[in-house]
Amino acid sequence: MWQYFMPTKVIFSKNVLEKNIDLFKNFGSKALIITGKHSSKKNGSLQDLEKSLQSAGVYYEIYDKIEENPTYSLIREAVYSLRDRNFDFIIGLGGGSPLDSAKAIAVLLKNKDMNVEDLYNASKYEQSLPICAIPTTSGTGSEVTQYSVLTDDSGYKKGFAHLSIFPALALIDPIYTISMNASLTRSTGLDALCHAVEGFVSKRATPVSDLYAVRAMELIKENLPKALENPEDLGARENMACASCLAGMVISQTSTTLAHVLGYPLSTFKGIRHGDATALFLDSIVNQAEKEIPEKIATIKKIFTDIGEFIASVGLKVSVQITDEELESWVNRAKQAAHNQWTRGIFDEKLLRHLYERVKKD
Ligand SMILES: [Fe+2]
Repeated sequence: MWQYFMPTKVIFSKNVLEKNIDLFKNFGSKALIITGKHSSKKNGSLQDLEKSLQSAGVYYEIYDKIEENPTYSLIREAVYSLRDRNFDFIIGLGGGSPLDSAKAIAVLLKNKDMNVEDLYNASKYEQSLPICAIPTTSGTGSEVTQYSVLTDDSGYKKGFAHLSIFPALALIDPIYTISMNASLTRSTGLDALCHAVEGFVSKRATPVSDLYAVRAMELIKENLPKALENPEDLGARENMACASCLAGMVISQTSTTLAHVLGYPLSTFKGIRHGDATALFLDSIVNQAEKEIPEKIATIKKIFTDIGEFIASVGLKVSVQITDEELESWVNRAKQAAHNQWTRGIFDEKLLRHLYERVKKD
């Protein structure tokens, strides 16, 4: 049995904001833009978006206080200051953090009696405000997923899934990704790679998600090194943006696996970027799956030969101080994660411990 459902209208084009002004009008006359402090100003996307909304005659306000790894308190603060403004729709602009925050805010502004914790109880709500997602990095795939990942009050990342937060519209223009520096290009590119590979080897993979996953892997193998070598290579940037969107469509069907779970504490407690933190565990996801799905692993090997070596070749190297207590608590959390149900292979305590030991500074 398999099914396919991905209800987001996706438009991938040069000058995508300028060319699709009319689409904004369909959502209403009052928009809220959710973005970060700097990057959408630096890459020109905020200016272009403002111009398009003005041409469309849509009134808008900008909330630009989103930070990397958005926390519950950041969302609470945003909702508190925005809740009486009666917006018709939300526009998430930027990387994964603004997009995931936009999704949480869209639910909480629609359902005013809810609090942040209620986002995780899918039966508590049915709708969110309509969401338009404009990604300006190539990695998250959040523009085509029903997921949002926030950091809870104790510092752990926790994702929620709800059909209402599938963006109604995703507008992708790779030009905005050109200003990403090398480390952001690498970490976001590796995030997309993890989505494609994890989805491909997941027990939840489907014939459709596999098609997207293989294409995404091929595009990343070819284009991530090019984008790192020459940031202005628009062809490579276009292909990475396409790969990221395809890989997002993959996880919209399969979810992510244990590599994401293992990477989360490295991001929130050690400041390692999400894609980098996740990619540290990708080789083990592939190795563990080999016994169960040798043909699929052969497909991955045909593309990358050795996925761990590919990841190292784009410059990923992480070594952080981890205390025994941290290691213990992270291993315990990983053991309990729902993701184990669809991650292939046997990730016992010994292996989980070993995987964290690998990134531990002596
Ligand atoms: Fe991710």
